[in-house]
Amino acid sequence: MKEIEANKEAWGSLSKGHYEHYKKAIQNKSHSFNPIIDEELGDISGKSIIHLQCNTGADTVLLAQKGAIVTGVDLVPENIFYANKMVQELNIKNIDFIASDIMKLKEHHHKKYDMVFTSEGVLCWLPDLAQWAETIKHLLKQNGVLYVFDSHPFFMTFDADKLSENKLEITYPYFIRESECFEEMNDYCTENTMGVNYEWMHKVSDIINPLAKEGLKIEYFNEYDRLFFNGGGMENLGNGLYHYPFFDKKLPFSFSLKARLIA
Ligand SMILES: C[S@@+](CC[C@H](N)C(=O)[O-])C[C@H]1O[C@@H](n2cnc3c(N)ncnc32)[C@H](O)[C@@H]1O
Repeated sequence: MKEIEANKEAWGSLSKGHYEHYKKAIQNKSHSFNPIIDEELGDISGKSIIHLQCNTGADTVLLAQKGAIVTGVDLVPENIFYANKMVQELNIKNIDFIASDIMKLKEHHHKKYDMVFTSEGVLCWLPDLAQWAETIKHLLKQNGVLYVFDSHPFFMTFDADKLSENKLEITYPYFIRESECFEEMNDYCTENTMGVNYEWMHKVSDIINPLAKEGLKIEYFNEYDRLFFNGGGMENLGNGLYHYPFFDKKLPFSFSLKARLIA
């Protein structure tokens, strides 16, 4: 698929910078989960976890440091190269990585896990959440759980530049199914920029319904007026979360979801 190939190249151009940034952050202990994820994850010690869209493995390391046995998966071979390099250099145990498109994972990976974890900038890169939900079911043991923390699709409809001026202007339609092409995008942790990339809008119902169809029971869907990156002119709360004070308690910026395979 041309969009996935473009995204692979775009993310690959950021891999080395992410490795350098996160290796340093892990070494000086400045990389951590935001407090929402931290609290909602709870005790994962001894759990087997597959971390989807793990990038260069920074959050995969956090999961391992909490005592889980973790497999990270990412589309981009360079990300997996640097993830392996980082865990070897930092001597982190109970962690391995697979380079794969999430959309193709169930064709070649048949291990079952206690938890599927995916967070912070993930669903917009996937063309089809029905296939995503099938993959999650394929990866979970009976009674295993899915945990997602990501941007709220409602927030993603607005023009980010206008949001910082306290203005709501819908630029990206909520009901659109086609991908949106972006010529470039600023990196969230370096000064680098990625090239042409494609993103998909997924409505709340697009996220929840396919999971229900696969037999996952939604235990919660939480909404937050905080975001995990600076969407433009946001106030940094210093704990991995950002907000616009004038939208507090008014707009959802992120959500979390926990679902359990009971069928
Ligand atoms: C914003 S990053 C996620 C970072 C995340 N917060 C983390 O470190 O756990 C999005 C990631 O999704 C990956 N990605 C995009 N499309 C994918 C696909 N179809 N299959 C697997 N990974 C994909 C990209 O390579 C990138 O590393």
